[in-house]
Parts: sequence; structure tokens; C-alpha cells
Amino acid sequence: MKLDLLIKNGTLVTATDTIQADVGVEGEKIVSIAENIDPTSDTVVVEAKDMYVFPGAIDVHVHFQLPFSGTISADDFENGTKAAAMGGVTTVLDFAIQQKGHSIMEAVKARRKEADGKVCIDYGLHAAITDWNPQTQAEIKQIIEYGIPTFKMFMIYKNEGWMADDGMLFQALEETKKFGGMIGVHAESVDILDMLIERYAQEKEKWGAYAHTLSRPDYTESEAVQRAIKWAEVTGGRLYIVHMSAGESAQYVHDARERGVHVYAETCPQYLLLDDSVFKGENGHLYATCPQIKKKEDSMRLWKGLIDGDIQIVATDTCTFDTKQKAMWEGDFRRIPFGLPGVETMFPLLYTEGVAKKRFSINHLVRLASTNPAKIFGMFPRKGTIASGSDADLVVFDPNKQVTIHAKDLQTNCDWSPFEGWQLKGYPHTTISRGELVVSDGKFVGKCGRGQFLKRQAVKQLDI
Ligand code: URP
Ligand code: ZN
Ligand code: ZN
Repeated sequence: MKLDLLIKNGTLVTATDTIQADVGVEGEKIVSIAENIDPTSDTVVVEAKDMYVFPGAIDVHVHFQLPFSGTISADDFENGTKAAAMGGVTTVLDFAIQQKGHSIMEAVKARRKEADGKVCIDYGLHAAITDWNPQTQAEIKQIIEYGIPTFKMFMIYKNEGWMADDGMLFQALEETKKFGGMIGVHAESVDILDMLIERYAQEKEKWGAYAHTLSRPDYTESEAVQRAIKWAEVTGGRLYIVHMSAGESAQYVHDARERGVHVYAETCPQYLLLDDSVFKGENGHLYATCPQIKKKEDSMRLWKGLIDGDIQIVATDTCTFDTKQKAMWEGDFRRIPFGLPGVETMFPLLYTEGVAKKRFSINHLVRLASTNPAKIFGMFPRKGTIASGSDADLVVFDPNKQVTIHAKDLQTNCDWSPFEGWQLKGYPHTTISRGELVVSDGKFVGKCGRGQFLKRQAVKQLDI
């Protein structure tokens, strides 16, 4: 058999197995996995001795070039996907946000225009529903058939025109249930939040960026999580809690899953690894994101949720704003562009903090960063595993490479990192996307525009 690419002598890691084997690739697909595979005449050989070979990480939550908070997030589709590849991510899911009074499909087409021809790895879209009317309802089936089986609804962001109320959420859960779709929610309690924001705005000089945390206590998330779960429970719809940050939210998800509710949850490195003391520092405003980073006890409960299975996915909510953009706040916490960089550092951070610190196994890392995202978001087994017939989306990962995170060394357009100075034990060495080397020995070697829009499948049955 002719082979275009061969990964030799690595330790292959999937969600269930760890084996010593070579991986043969022809074109875009994995075609052979065996103890000793010989190259053919023109085979490119990647030596993976003493390294792990993982299925590429999948970040199901990024916002590249998002117009938000009076600016545009600083990593566009080209650089954002480059940064992703450098960090071992081979698929990202971004968002097409419906404009009120317009169809969902218009937003999808507009977003594809921004991404197609720019992306370096494969990408898909979630469709964000901001308007519910008979046309939107009729579009759900069409959008799912188009390859977008997952929708997003924001329970906040009234001023942006993005907010969905409970009636919309309820109906969208009913409608997506019919076709194997899923609703992702940004869960925060808008009325309490807006009231608290105005309360702390009266004393904004006193509190500075810390007012961001004071105005968003944990219950502003967990109440909304609990409410969204209720609507999923009574409609039977499938619900996904994005960027979950509070320990109490994790408990609500746990309890609901025990009752058989179809609810899934994601958390992000910032909620696992940082706590709200960051807002007290001189540059506290840089860390402002929604929901805000919570307390140490919350992080501890989130880690437990990741280990026990209450939380199935780690994603990043990458929404990069550099220091100049963040400076737009001028002392008013309400005007901070909310969002953090993250796609590039997620996988090595998770390896260091999860596997190297023995919080979970290497197979569980694959589950959280690749297999579960692929299954829950309708990409499995094309993505999310190492198997014959799957896309050759692979990361050769060097567990012995020590890296200190410095924003200046990263691919992202961000000039700061929430993890500046953090020591990583292990880093991606080579990233392969559909059989092509996009990162080799830590250097980007891919082509922009080679990434494809990924048509995802509706999910009928989930074993997670
Ligand atoms: O602060 C954040 N997370 N910005 C991006 C938009 C969102 O809510 O996910
Ligand atoms: Zn959000
Ligand atoms: Zn987001």
C-alpha cells in the first residue's frame, strides 16, 4: 500500500487505549495502524520516538474576528487557526450570529465568507439564534441538514441584540430535539446581573476591575444553568452549557444528569487554573471575561466535575483582546472588552495540569479535548480518534519538552497571556491536519486557506 505520511515509533493514545504503533496515512485519511509499518517510495516519515501521538484537539468554542464590546477580537480566522495548530488543535468551532430580523442562514453564509479561504485547519460553525419567529423555527431543520446541528443562545447580552429569553430557549429546545440538534447556552441571569452591574457602577472608581467579579457572583451563573436545565428536562431537548465557571453549576449539571436530563457541559482553562484574585492586580481588567473567573472552591469543583464526568469537554472561549483593546475600559468595568486568548495554550496546559499532575489519565485527556467534543458535536469518528478511515488529524506531542509561556513567543495576535510565566511540561511537536503537516518541530508550515468547512452530523444517540 502506498503511504503519503508515516508516523513512526510513537505511543498512540486514544480515549480508551495506549499502544506502541506506527500510523500510516494516505491522502487525508489514516489507513493503517500497526506495530511496524514500512514507508513506501515517497512517504514522508515523522519520527515520534518518546512522544505521544494524540488525535488532534478540538476546540468547540472560539470567537475569531468577533465584533464585540466596540472592537473586533484580535485573532482573525487566519491567525486564530494558525495559533490553534501550534497548540495541537486541529478543528475549531466558531459562531455565526443571527441578526435580528434576518435569517440564520444569512449569518452562516456571511461567517463562511470570513473564514473560507483563510483557515489553516478545519472549522465548523454553531448558529447563534437571537430572534425566534416562524421563519427561524422552520430554519432549524434546514441548518442542521446544512451541517450545523448545534445552536447557541445567549441568556444575556441584551444591548448587543443577542439575548434569547426563556420562551425562545424553550421553543428552540423543542424544535432541535426533533432533528438531533443541540442548544448551547451562555447561562447568566440577566436581570440580577444588570441590577448588580448598575449597583457597582455607582462605586466603580473604588473597585476598578474588581467590580467585574463583585457584580457577577457565582449564583448569577448557576441560577441560569438551573433554569436552562429545567427547560431541557421538560422539553426533552439536548442542552450544552458553554464556558461553565461555577462549582454550583457543576453540581446542578451532575444532579440533572443523574435524573436522565440530556445536559452536557464545558469548562475552560481560565476557570480551572485562575481565580478571582487576578482582578485585584494592576492589570486585573485584562482578565475580564464572561462569565467571570470565580473562586478557588469553584475551580476545585470544576476539576472534580472533569474527573467524574459531570463536565465532558474543555474548550477555550477564545476571544482575544490585546492590551490596547482592553485599555478601552478607561476605569469603567462595564466597558472592558470581555474575552481571553486561549486556543493555543489549552492542550499543553491541560496535559501539564491534568496528566503531568496526575489529576487524570492520558486517555481522559483525549476524551476531554478530542473524543467527547467530536461525539457531542457530530464529528465522530471522522474526527476525535485514531482509527483506520478517520481523518489524519494528529498531534505528535513531546512530554519532555519544558516550555514557559510568554505571550511574545506565541502565534496569537495577543500581546499578553493569562498564563504568562506558567511552566508547561510537554508541548506539541508536530500537528497534522487531514494528512498535511501544518506544524513541524514547533514551526508553522501549513498553508492558509487549506482548512475546510466541516459539515457536521445531527446526533441521534450519545453514549456520554
Ligand atoms: O467574554 C466572553 N466570553 N466573550 C465572548 C462572548 C461569549 O460570551 O462567549
Ligand atoms: Zn458566552
Ligand atoms: Zn464564547
